[in-house]
Amino acid sequence: MNLPHPELSIGAQLVPDWHAPYFGRERLPVRIFADEHQAARAVADRIAQRIRENTAADKNTVLGLATGHTPVGVYDRLIQLHREGLDLSRVVTFNLDEYWPMPSDALQSYHRWMHENLFDHVNIPAENIHIPAGDVPRDQLERHCQTYEDAIRAVGGIDLQILGIGKTGHIGFNEPGSPPESRTRLVTLDPVTRRDAASDFFGEENVPRHAITMGLATILEAREICLLAFGEHKSAIVRRSVEEPPSAAIAQYQ
Ligand code: PGA
Repeated sequence: MNLPHPELSIGAQLVPDWHAPYFGRERLPVRIFADEHQAARAVADRIAQRIRENTAADKNTVLGLATGHTPVGVYDRLIQLHREGLDLSRVVTFNLDEYWPMPSDALQSYHRWMHENLFDHVNIPAENIHIPAGDVPRDQLERHCQTYEDAIRAVGGIDLQILGIGKTGHIGFNEPGSPPESRTRLVTLDPVTRRDAASDFFGEENVPRHAITMGLATILEAREICLLAFGEHKSAIVRRSVEEPPSAAIAQYQ
């Protein structure tokens, strides 16, 4: 995919019947938006539609959620829709990842980030919110990751997963080399990812070396996936991800 303009926004999604995707050299359905705001709005409106349909049918909606710069506009729009009457009391959420070790109230914690950017402003019940625990002791990590997988399965799997993509091609914290059959687990962060996070931690040396992340298999089992990427710095990895054949070097979406 050539990006003719640095501000162009990309939203790739895997459900061909959602609006009219553009097929060029891409191996996946891709939608290009005039700006980030419009992409975020389209994705949030899609989420709201799923929530309304499921709630009307007396069903929960299970969302896979991401943190970082990418999904902020989606959450802002969901908060706005909630203020206009959207009921999120039947929403269940599973976040992709969390740094490890990481106290949940730390400045850089994804627990804290999710509450500040979404959960504190909508009516998702606290017991429906799941985020990998960055404060779990090492000897309980394996059991914690298995419990996370079990909880996703217990609610019938993820209806709609929101993803960003890192410069390494990671989704969640599945860095290059992650196997397609991987599940929720402790991973080692790529040096590029740690460098990208340095400003949040006031220096690269303070960025944790590890994280807990849903696996590629966990993510790809979602019934619908919206991957969003904004800005010139993401253009190279978006092109590789959507145009090149799947490989272990970049996350696989096929
Ligand atoms: P970003 O991160 O949304 O902050 O760009 C995306 C990612 O690393 O997955």
